[in-house]
Amino acid sequence: MSDIINTVILAAGKGTRLNIDKAKPLCPAMGQTLVDFVIQGIEGFSEKISETIEYNFVVGHEKEKVLRHITENYKNLSLSFAHQKEQLGTGHALQTFFESNPKAWGNEYTLVVCADTPLITSDVYLKLFDEIKDSNFDAVCACFITGNPTGYGRIEQKSIGFNIVEEKDATDQQKEITAVNSALYFFKTSHIKNYINQISNKNNSNELYLTDLFKEGFNVKTVSFSEEKLFLGVNNLVQLEEAESVLLQRKMESLMLSGVIIKNAKSQYIETQVDIKPKVVIYPNVSLKGKTTIASGAILEEGVIINNSEVGAGVKVRAYSYLEGAKISDDAVIGPMARLREGTIIEKNCKVGNFVEIKKAVLHEGSKVSHLSYVGDAQVGENTNIGCGFITCNYDGANKHKTIIGKNSFIGSDCQMIAPVTIGDEAYVGSGSTINKDVPDHAFAIARQRQVNKENMASRFIKKK
Ligand code: UD1
Ligand code: CA
Repeated sequence: MSDIINTVILAAGKGTRLNIDKAKPLCPAMGQTLVDFVIQGIEGFSEKISETIEYNFVVGHEKEKVLRHITENYKNLSLSFAHQKEQLGTGHALQTFFESNPKAWGNEYTLVVCADTPLITSDVYLKLFDEIKDSNFDAVCACFITGNPTGYGRIEQKSIGFNIVEEKDATDQQKEITAVNSALYFFKTSHIKNYINQISNKNNSNELYLTDLFKEGFNVKTVSFSEEKLFLGVNNLVQLEEAESVLLQRKMESLMLSGVIIKNAKSQYIETQVDIKPKVVIYPNVSLKGKTTIASGAILEEGVIINNSEVGAGVKVRAYSYLEGAKISDDAVIGPMARLREGTIIEKNCKVGNFVEIKKAVLHEGSKVSHLSYVGDAQVGENTNIGCGFITCNYDGANKHKTIIGKNSFIGSDCQMIAPVTIGDEAYVGSGSTINKDVPDHAFAIARQRQVNKENMASRFIKKK
């Protein structure tokens, strides 16, 4: 016998009850998808055992998309896909796997899990695996007691073995049973081989039920888990929200235990892939999404939203700032109410103040844009100061053009740069200038009308009521 465990992840279903435009395995959850959490739970299990796991997916609905998502994101795993053309039931899905992987009959154990149970942890897999290895049972089924068994298969215990009765087939009396099937199983592969072709679809769903591998008289066992939440099956958007709140709570707990200071944890939204180092402080109502990283000592004030961005050590992101696809280096200060868009790079010790929008631009070390400005398609040199109300006029209606500003320069308030334009090092641009010609290093540029004062003329213009 090999030391490979067949892991079969049932992921062919459409997820009709979700009412979204995606195959169920790809249903978005906390910045990832349902199937990601199942795979990551199994990866965690794999790290705790000496056997090798093969990840086999039974795919059907939107199979190309499901396949692409998994192959792109889990290049390091041993993956295979079996195509279930028609979804004739969970038992048929398992048949489909073995038909396309006959070699798998040679592996002693088979783990079966559904793609819609994202909360199962590595410890659950481990406990179930220990149960089948250490006992003489042919199959073990994880089950739990629930206050609301509706929709789950009921476990009807018998003196030898047990039956799993699906909701649609249950009598009123069976519906009262609160012990239910989690749809997570470990089998001796030989048990599947002996019985998989005896499953029939003579039930109220006309489906081939995988649960028929457990029957009165079979040498099978239930393993009870007390934490119902571990097995939540996501069939609709209410259950998705429940699952997401568990994932969120787990994320918050692990962050806080690692040394991240979180104020009013209940108000936060932090997706699972966000990486936050110890000594970060997060004030209420912050949203952190996608592949965001926050380095040690950063402070995120109230209402900050950050998506797919890197925030350096000691950075202060002040209240209600919105960052997307931005990279902020150490000790910079952003906001309040700044908007950093895709392609923004802010180097060390820069300052971006209130009501500043930056897009596809680099602020080199120590430069400042402190108030009410738009910096797009631009480079700003080291220690350059940009005054209030600055605008890069980067778009001519058809194309985007670049503004390049050198180091140690000073740009007065209310200036516009009509791109493409270059300002040199140690240059000075007077306030209120509209610049459309390059300014050389060390030059002073001013582009506005000279002021004229007319004595005693104000009375002609001041209106009285
Ligand atoms: C299933 C169990 C039920 C258990 C519940 C726990 C069966 C018959 N019932 O019911 O006892 O309490 O899970 O959550 O197994 N799938 C396929 N091909 C198919 C049919 C389904 O790949 O032909 C996949 C689905 O994509 C899904 C999984 O199998 O990931 C489970 O199917 P689903 O329809 O959600 O089963 P439940 O009704 O929830
Ligand atoms: Ca389900």
